[in-house]
Amino acid sequence: MTKSSKGQNIELDLDRVAANGLLSRRHLLSAALGGAGLAMARPVIGQEPGINLEIPAWSKTPGPGTSPYGNRSAHAQLERQSGFGNPLYPGGGASRSPLQHLQGTITPNSLHFERHHAGIPAIDPAGHKLVIHGLVHQPLVFDYEDLLKYQMVSKIYFLECSGNSGALLYGGNPDGTAQSLHGLVSCAEWTGIPLSALLEEAGLLPEARWIAAVGADAASMGRSIPLDKAMDDSLLALFQNGEPVRPEQGYPMRLFNPGWEGNTSVKWLTQIKVTRNPLQFRDETSKYTDTLPDRTSLQFTFPMDVKSLITSPSGQMRVTQGDIYRVTGIAWSGAGSIRRVEVSADGGQTWGDALIESQQLDKALVRFSIPWKWNGAPAVLQSRATDSAGNVQPTRDAVIAAKGTINRYHNPCIQSWGVNTAGEVTNVYV
Ligand code: CO
Repeated sequence: MTKSSKGQNIELDLDRVAANGLLSRRHLLSAALGGAGLAMARPVIGQEPGINLEIPAWSKTPGPGTSPYGNRSAHAQLERQSGFGNPLYPGGGASRSPLQHLQGTITPNSLHFERHHAGIPAIDPAGHKLVIHGLVHQPLVFDYEDLLKYQMVSKIYFLECSGNSGALLYGGNPDGTAQSLHGLVSCAEWTGIPLSALLEEAGLLPEARWIAAVGADAASMGRSIPLDKAMDDSLLALFQNGEPVRPEQGYPMRLFNPGWEGNTSVKWLTQIKVTRNPLQFRDETSKYTDTLPDRTSLQFTFPMDVKSLITSPSGQMRVTQGDIYRVTGIAWSGAGSIRRVEVSADGGQTWGDALIESQQLDKALVRFSIPWKWNGAPAVLQSRATDSAGNVQPTRDAVIAAKGTINRYHNPCIQSWGVNTAGEVTNVYV
C-alpha cells in the first residue's frame, strides 16, 4: 500500500469520482510529483532536523559478486501458499500466488500458482516423447530436441484454475486474503509452437473433432479439447517468461489453452490423440464439472469469465484514517481484453473509473489503480471489470442465482473487502 506521509494531510477540495472517498486519478499523479501537499516523500531542504543523511553501511563496502542463479532480497521474501495435502491423494494439491504483494501483470515463475494431481514427475527431456496419433494421416512422435527446431510464438496469457475463488460461493473465510481466496490465477509470457502446426503436420482426417491430451504424471491427467480451440490459439508451451517451463509447470512441455480453465492446459504433455468425440477422462466427469441445484452437471465449461480483484488494500491489511491509498488490483477475461475497471468504496452503490496502468492484451492480466482517501467510516471496496466482448463482472448474488451453491467452479464474482472503523480490512459478503 502506498499512503500519504503523515503530517502533510492538508485538507483540499479533492475531486471525488464516487462516494466514500474515491478520488480522481490525478491525485496520485500530483502526489507523486510532490504537488498539492500530498507528497509521498518528504522534501529535503537544508539540514532539516530529523532527516538522517548518514551513508548507510551497505554503501561503504563492496557486497557479494555475481551468482549463477539470481535470488530475492532478504527483505522481499514472497511465497506461494500451499493448501493442505490429503494422505489419500498423494501429490494432489495446489499452491497460490501472493497476489496482494505483486505489482504489474507478470507473475514470477517461482510464484506462479500450481495445481498437481499426482505430484511433479522428475522428467529427463532426453527420455520424454510427444506422440500425436488417432484420426491423422500420419502418426508422429517428437522428442524435445526435435521440437526446439520449430518456429515459435511468444504470448502473454493469464492462467486460472476453474476452482479459483470457489470458497466465496459458500461463504465464510472472513480471514481470507487475496492470495488464499483468489491466488489460483497467474500470468506469464508463454513461448512455444502453435498446436495447429503440429496437427497439420500429422494431417487431420475429415471426421476429427476433438483432441485428447494426456500428461506424463502418475495421474495420467487427461483432458478433451475441441479441435476448433486446438487449431485456433492453443500452444505447445516450452518456455515461460524466457526460461524452460519449470517442472511444476510441466517441464519439458505443456499444452496451453489461452483463456480456458487451467486444468485443460495439460502439463508434462506426452500424448495427443485426435478423436471424433471427447474421451470422458476422470477430470472432465467426476471433476471440473459444474453441478447445478437440480444435481445435473455442466460438462466442458472451458472459458474463464471476465473478472477483477482489488489486491491492495485487501484481506488482513489495515488502513489509517485520513490517509490516501493507491487502491490497485488485477483484471482479466477469457473472452478477450479488459476495456474498463470500475471501483466502488460503498459496496457497489456508486462507482468510479480506475486507471488501467498496463497494456490491455487479450487473455492477459491488466493492472488498475484509483486513489482513495479513507475518512474513518466503514467502507466496502469492490472492483468490476468489463471486457472487449461487453461482458460485465457479476455480483456474487448474480452468480449464485444463476448456478446455485453446490458448484465450486467458475466463480467470477465481485470481491468485497470490508473496512471497519478500526481500519481492518476483511473479506465480507454484501
Ligand atoms: Co469448467
